[in-house]
Amino acid sequence: MNKPFNMLWGSASADFQYEGGFSEGGRGLLTHDFVTDGSHEVPRKITYELPDGIKGSSPIRGSIPEGAIGCIDPNEYYPSHKAVDFYHRYKEDIALLADMGLSLMRFGICWTRVFPTGEEELPNEEGLKFYDNVIDECLKYNIEPMITICHDELPAVLANKYGGWSNRILIDRYVKLCEVLFNRFGDKVKYWITFNELNVLQGYSHLGTTRADAQTTFQCIHHLFVASAKAKILAKELMPGAMLGAMFASSPTYPATCHPDDQQAWMDQRRRVFYFSDVMLRGYYPSYSQKIWDELGISITMADEDDDILREGTLDFYSFSCYRSTTVSREDTLGIIALPFGSNPYLKATPWGWPIDPTSIRYVLNEVYDRYQKPLFIVENGLGEIDQPDENLFVQDDYRIDYLNDHFAEIKKAVEIDQVPVLGYTMWGGIDLVSLSTGEMKKRYGWVYVDMDDKGNGTKDRYPKASYYWMKEFIETNGKNLKGN
Ligand code: BG6
Repeated sequence: MNKPFNMLWGSASADFQYEGGFSEGGRGLLTHDFVTDGSHEVPRKITYELPDGIKGSSPIRGSIPEGAIGCIDPNEYYPSHKAVDFYHRYKEDIALLADMGLSLMRFGICWTRVFPTGEEELPNEEGLKFYDNVIDECLKYNIEPMITICHDELPAVLANKYGGWSNRILIDRYVKLCEVLFNRFGDKVKYWITFNELNVLQGYSHLGTTRADAQTTFQCIHHLFVASAKAKILAKELMPGAMLGAMFASSPTYPATCHPDDQQAWMDQRRRVFYFSDVMLRGYYPSYSQKIWDELGISITMADEDDDILREGTLDFYSFSCYRSTTVSREDTLGIIALPFGSNPYLKATPWGWPIDPTSIRYVLNEVYDRYQKPLFIVENGLGEIDQPDENLFVQDDYRIDYLNDHFAEIKKAVEIDQVPVLGYTMWGGIDLVSLSTGEMKKRYGWVYVDMDDKGNGTKDRYPKASYYWMKEFIETNGKNLKGN
């Protein structure tokens, strides 16, 4: 079958937002298993215990006392524990995606299914078998599997014992995971993503450290860069045909006004965002790094061999998320987190305040290709909305169809007019899953409705929405159903 714009089309997910089965198949605890639900108004929290037995909780980006370890409070609801049960329903989900004609499925490996503590000598066979089954099910329908090796998560033991990525030992633990995955799945999986959105610094659950200061954060990031490069070096040896990339949050930013200082603020912000991909795709720290370190008052400890590792382990493709655009002004302070969320009077926003900006995706495709000249994958895009199912649990989600239509039209321009090589597109959460930022089910992205509420109540049965049939037609007609096309 011809594919619209000659690229792969699919769905994307992360294990802890999708799989569930958190105590099954020998799976160990992840940092995310301590993260409660939340909402747009109430931030998610991490629950923890101090050595003297005192329990507490802290907002994800808040401060957790030194020495605290993650713990589960029976009075809280933790969405990762059951999620939407892909663990038991993977056959049904993959069949639904296949019936739409999709050709790509991006999913995250749960590190603790493979190494329950992250420290074992040998991997957990039951965990590997689960991913064997998922991959084989994809291949049965000619769906190309794309693996995210680490999607914003860490084995709880590695976080608690070592302070997460602040400790260089994590590099070895991660590379060991890669070695097992490459040996096991390397002949079936071509596309690999080493890490998800390193340029979104989410704090404890992401980096596994209780310390949220700039020094610790950027030291963690250096270790992550080296780990990714080592994975690439290993992949060249074990899987010569494979392609490795990392995933970067790439929603573009616009200067808030044409004031020259806003332009300067914009350049500073873009460098903060590209700091990560500049190292991982070019193989060395860019010259502006020193300015960032000076501003943050930090210095990075690097081992003698790191320069060579970074240079040798550059990635093959740039993959990214693009949901929205933002603005930056001279009034903004970047701090550790370099993603300002200025509103834009020219754009409408979702109920969660994310501006809807289809042209941003064409812009970012061009911006990134100009910078790296490497192939691109759009691996997250989509509309988080409140769906209203009818009595048969059917959702007439015309707003999602409009969102996809308008974004696809811009991707088409980037590919056909601007000549940007885009290898594929995966919409976020093709089957509804749990929101990362708020922990809600109410914020839905999917083509397929999952009967489950914010507290996990419901059958978890799947119901295709109107957008499911629109997407199926988009693939079948090679994009002829695009409006305004
Ligand atoms: C990306 C993450 O940042 O955004 C996903 O990689 C996340 O894990 C997605 O789900 C959408 O964000 P949210 O908060 O709407 O789930």
